[in-house]
Amino acid sequence: MCSTMTDLAEKLYKEQTLSKRELTELFNCDTDTAERLRSLAEKVRIENYGCDIYVRGLIEFSNYCKRDCLYCGIRRSNQNCERYRLSFDEIMECCDEGYNLGFRTFVLQSGEDPYYDDDKICEIITAIKSKYPDCALTLSIGEKSYDSYKRFYDCGADRYLLRHETANKAHYEKLHTKSQSFENRIRCLKDLKQIGYQTGCGFMVGSPYQTDECLAEDLLFIKDFNPHMVGIGPFISHKDTVFKDHPNGPVELTLKLLSIIRLMLPKVLLPATTALATIDPRGREKGIMAGANVVMPNLSPVSVRKKYQIYDNKICTGDESAMCKNCLDLRVKSVGCKIVTSRGDSKNV
Ligand code: 5AD
Ligand code: FES
Repeated sequence: MCSTMTDLAEKLYKEQTLSKRELTELFNCDTDTAERLRSLAEKVRIENYGCDIYVRGLIEFSNYCKRDCLYCGIRRSNQNCERYRLSFDEIMECCDEGYNLGFRTFVLQSGEDPYYDDDKICEIITAIKSKYPDCALTLSIGEKSYDSYKRFYDCGADRYLLRHETANKAHYEKLHTKSQSFENRIRCLKDLKQIGYQTGCGFMVGSPYQTDECLAEDLLFIKDFNPHMVGIGPFISHKDTVFKDHPNGPVELTLKLLSIIRLMLPKVLLPATTALATIDPRGREKGIMAGANVVMPNLSPVSVRKKYQIYDNKICTGDESAMCKNCLDLRVKSVGCKIVTSRGDSKNV
């Protein structure tokens, strides 16, 4: 049994894919196989990116959201969520601070906030790109039309993050309200890639109703979609959502999935997420050792950080950006890597 399992890790390394059945076997593998997966993934990360870990400055500029995803703490129907929007000037100040810390990628993230219409988003993109032409700009602002995505791209946005959340339509419908469509989510991802964005998809590990089969479908979807980036992190319950009593996603499974993704897409950009670091004090370090090569510290003003609570107990909500930068430097060093502040474009072209 054991040797067959380890063979599966070797097969994944050589062939960069597995069948759905083989993938589900790996999710439940023994500790020796898990360690083999991890070490192969680390080797592949080093072959492609050396010891470099890319850093992205995350600016959460609005927690207003017109959507009602059942798992999310900033969902529309959460009356306990104190809403905020950063002004244009505040967003630019976050970029200044990030730039001075050496960051050369900014990620603008928000709920789906109708206040920021396409004109306002374009104005922000244009301002950031003209002030910092040497920086990459990533958007993470949800589902939009092809035309909106195209306008943002033409204004200078380089990358777009939109997690697919789950590749299984029935599962998608259990996590969202009737007004949210699985087909539209996938349409968005295809549009983004077609327009020319470096595109990121992803999912939560251990979300309600997720089965091993769903996870295998996620991985095969990702393999087929061939994104530039993949964001995965454990599901973490939020007290004001219907899933408040659902257990958090398992750390070990999240790490295995990071390794499998690294082996399936050797050149992909793979963050060690804040969610992983929230449920494990050494989550970021473990994520990097499992094959991750990106960290995304928060650049939002400390005064609003606690309000962007998509899940409970999110870390780093009280720390100044400079502190996070230092903390990450040390953590990354402790696993033999180094933070690099270049744009860090994907090599998965
Ligand atoms: N736990 C973990 N991740 C979550 N997200 C939303 N809510 C939660 C939660 N409760 C993730 C979703 C979303 C991203 C911004 O955060 O995958 O796409
Ligand atoms: Fe924010 Fe460590 S990353 S304090």
